[in-house]
Amino acid sequence: TWTTEAFIEEAVREVRAKVGDRRVLLALSGGVDSSTLAFLLNKAIGDKLTCMFIDQGFMRKGEPERLVKLFEEEFHIHVSYVNARDRFLAKVEGVTDPEVKRKRIGHEFIRVFEEESRRLGPFDYLAQGTLYPDVIESADTNVDPKTGERVAVKIKSHHNVGGLPKDLQFKLVEPLRKLFKDEVRKLGRSLGLPEEIVRRHPFPGPGLAIRILGEVTAEKLNILRDADYIVREEIRIRGMYHDFWQAFAVLLPVRSVGVMGDQRTYAYPIVLRCVSSEDGMTADWSRAPYDLLEAISNRIVNEVKGVNRVVYDITSKPPGTIEWE
Ligand code: XMP
Repeated sequence: TWTTEAFIEEAVREVRAKVGDRRVLLALSGGVDSSTLAFLLNKAIGDKLTCMFIDQGFMRKGEPERLVKLFEEEFHIHVSYVNARDRFLAKVEGVTDPEVKRKRIGHEFIRVFEEESRRLGPFDYLAQGTLYPDVIESADTNVDPKTGERVAVKIKSHHNVGGLPKDLQFKLVEPLRKLFKDEVRKLGRSLGLPEEIVRRHPFPGPGLAIRILGEVTAEKLNILRDADYIVREEIRIRGMYHDFWQAFAVLLPVRSVGVMGDQRTYAYPIVLRCVSSEDGMTADWSRAPYDLLEAISNRIVNEVKGVNRVVYDITSKPPGTIEWE
């Protein structure tokens, strides 16, 4: 039978045997997989581990600050914070096609990652929070014929990275590769990760950039960040966070007419997307209570300048996807 204690003991032993006293780089996202991995590696190799967090400017309000503070002050794990907001915004400027947007963000992530790893390195290993379902789709990695090690040639977009250049071949450390998500959550918990991270809603690597349909601008990022914050706040104060697989706001690139006081408005709509799901592969739209919907709508329209309408997405997956891009 699988116990987290036995797993941790074994994984720590394996990592130590493999890595020795060489250096490992981990790209932290703040999600449960990379955070659990950071805890595990910190336990196994201590300061041979370097955690890097690339802030592409598409995170939710307050989250980059929260992540760094949690790791530094509460977990005592140093995080090398990289502010790359301007570069990422420049890369998506004028881009409206969702796939082009995702690719641009993926490529920029690699560039920043590469530059920073040269600056902080050299590193011998790259740690990845690869899970069992990812391993099955192993076309994303090659096996070095001499050593039998899995070498990164491409990290999937859901790990934030779209493909590493050929001359940047790290050896991989992937201690979570035999685990499913629910096992990672148990593992994280027993390593001491707070519930705040263990049960955090999934969040896409390209972040808010793929929740702003069409062109991403600094102004639209601010609008969406504020609307999204209200969604989370209203859900949290009702103790409903765990009633949803995900609950978030999407900004549409069209405008509609409304009225505020005695003024005509012509502004953007926010889509509210709340879903239940087991694994993200299929999903059902959530029958969220009317008072929650009402509170979110009232607050967004009143507090977020540039928005005059809130609509609720009642599409399941399939045929919809959870994200809008
Ligand atoms: P879709 O929109 O395909 O999303 O129904 C399924 C789940 O995957 C998440 N998602 C991503 N996660 N990088 C990620 O790490 C991505 O590029 C990405 N795109 C979608 C989505 O939030 C949902 O939980």
